[in-house]
Amino acid sequence: MDQGAGERADGGTEIGAVAVVGAGTMGRQIAAVVAASGRGVTIHDADATTLAGAVPRLREEMVSLPAAPAYRHHPYRLPTPADPDAVAARVRAVASLAEAVADADLVIEAVREEIGVKRALFSELDRLAPGAILATNSSSLPSSLLVPAVTDPGRLLNLHFFAPVWVRPMAEVMGCGATRPETLAAVARFGRSLGLATATVRGESKGFIINRVWRAVKREALRVVDEGHADPADVDRLWMLFFGTGVGPFGIMDMVGLDVVADIEASYAAVATDPEDRASATLHRLIAAGAHGEKSGRGFYRHPDAEYLDPEWLREGGAPPG
Ligand SMILES: NC(=O)c1ccc[n+]([C@@H]2O[C@H](COP(=O)([O-])OP(=O)(O)OC[C@H]3O[C@@H](n4cnc5c(N)ncnc54)[C@H](O)[C@@H]3O)[C@@H](O)[C@H]2O)c1
Repeated sequence: MDQGAGERADGGTEIGAVAVVGAGTMGRQIAAVVAASGRGVTIHDADATTLAGAVPRLREEMVSLPAAPAYRHHPYRLPTPADPDAVAARVRAVASLAEAVADADLVIEAVREEIGVKRALFSELDRLAPGAILATNSSSLPSSLLVPAVTDPGRLLNLHFFAPVWVRPMAEVMGCGATRPETLAAVARFGRSLGLATATVRGESKGFIINRVWRAVKREALRVVDEGHADPADVDRLWMLFFGTGVGPFGIMDMVGLDVVADIEASYAAVATDPEDRASATLHRLIAAGAHGEKSGRGFYRHPDAEYLDPEWLREGGAPPG
């Protein structure tokens, strides 16, 4: 690490060893896709049980996630690794944060979406990984919020992956305002080397690129239903036929989790200038009834085997009103 890993990564040559901090939903998938590129990966989690299960779970998810019925229409998937055991063998679960990041050229943080937790972690990474590029996988927090935690913000940035990474082969890179251009370029190259279409955001944008566009879709889909103009099924059916996709906005919200959607909506509403931009009554009614989407067996649809997965469902019109 003191051997100038940062210089290597910043200086235009390729990122080699990677450390992933956080072994939850995203951390496991990030570790797996990096290992699938042939790189060595260390993975760390503060929770011992999560860490112990990380490598077996990512081994299993490499195969099971892309095979889930909900993703059967995704056309641009990464190839499932021919030898998942060999990929999993390149990931080392490490209980000590210091050891996990010691040799990393790039540290990817994927812990809880809470700024206090992330700031505390980045000030540790600042000390423990002085030569590495430091990236956050946050879905909503710009890395500029982490600048106070590090001594050299030139090596700090957002690197945002999407779940499941195997069927959504894309990433977004966004600087913190002080990120060195060569660091941004090295991380964008790194993303592409994983097989991911990697877009670099110019300046700072809340929601980066696609989450921001997706947020506008969610807001209007929920509004159409809140105002009583349509049922979620009609919105999704028309959406799927119009765009030729295998799932509509409400189906995607069920996959994300309605409680998570509500938190994200609240974070946008908090900075919105439009007074109409407020919490959706439909969304909150479902959450209050314990319908949190796929994970709770019920959201806008019943799960598993949601109605929209049946091609016949697409041909049905909605029931006439009244
Ligand atoms: N889930 C998604 O679809 C998705 C997509 C893109 C980005 N993200 C972002 O990725 C990050 C992680 O999300 P997730 O869904 O994987 O969450 P998760 O809750 O599944 O996993 C978070 C993990 O971080 C661990 N953790 C918490 N504090 C820690 C610390 N200080 N040090 C080490 N480990 C710690 C927890 O034990 C947990 O295992 C968030 O910032 C989220 O916004 C999530």
